[in-house]
Amino acid sequence: MKNFKIRPYKPEDEKEVIALWRRCNLIVPWNSSKLDIERKLQVNPEMFLVGLLDSKVVVTVMGGYDGHRGWVNYLAVSPNCQQTGLGRKIMSVIEDKLKAVGCPKINLQIRSNNTSAVDFYERVGYSVEDLVDMGKRLVDDTELVPKV
Ligand SMILES: CC(C)(COP(=O)(O)OP(=O)(O)OC[C@H]1O[C@@H](n2cnc3c(N)ncnc32)[C@H](O)[C@@H]1OP(=O)(O)O)[C@@H](O)C(=O)NCCC(=O)NCCS
Repeated sequence: MKNFKIRPYKPEDEKEVIALWRRCNLIVPWNSSKLDIERKLQVNPEMFLVGLLDSKVVVTVMGGYDGHRGWVNYLAVSPNCQQTGLGRKIMSVIEDKLKAVGCPKINLQIRSNNTSAVDFYERVGYSVEDLVDMGKRLVDDTELVPKV
C-alpha cells in the first residue's frame, strides 16, 4: 500500500488511537485507554506502533518485552482496512523489533469470544497453547480516571 507507513506512537495520535480501539471493540470498562497509553509510554514506548494510511491512524499494536516473553496487546486494524494485510504487516514489524532485543517467544491474550482474532493469529503463525490464563488486578483503573 503506497501511502501506508508504520512508526512509533506520538502523543498527538491519542485521540485517533482511542477512536480506533473503540471501533474495534477493544475498549472494556475495567481498563482506561488513557492510562494504558500513559503506562505504555513508560515501558518500551518504541514498541507501541501505529500504522498510518494517508496520515490517518488505521492500525495499532502495543508490544513489549519483559525479559522472558514478548507481549502483544491492542492489535487493531480499522474495520474499513481489515483483510488487506495490514494486521499481518504490523505483526511482522513488532516481531522483528522483539527479536532484535533478544526476545525468544511472544505470548498474547485474546478474549474468549473473539474467535476471529484467534483465526487471524493462527494464519500469522501463532498457536493456541494448553495453558490457563490467570490475572490479579493491582490497581482499579475505574477509580482513577473517568471512562473514555
Ligand atoms: C484481527 C485483526 C487485527 C486482523 O487484521 P487484518 O488486517 O484484517 O488481517 P490481515 O488482512 O493481515 O490478515 C492476515 C491473515 O489472517 C486472515 N484473517 C484476518 N482476519 C480474519 C478473520 N476474521 N477470520 C479468519 N481469517 C482472518 C486473513 O485472511 C489473512 O490470511 P492469509 O494472509 O493467510 O490469506 C482485525 O480484524 C482487527 O483489528 N480486529 C478487531 C480487533 C481485534 O480483535 N484485535 C485483536 C485483539 S486480541
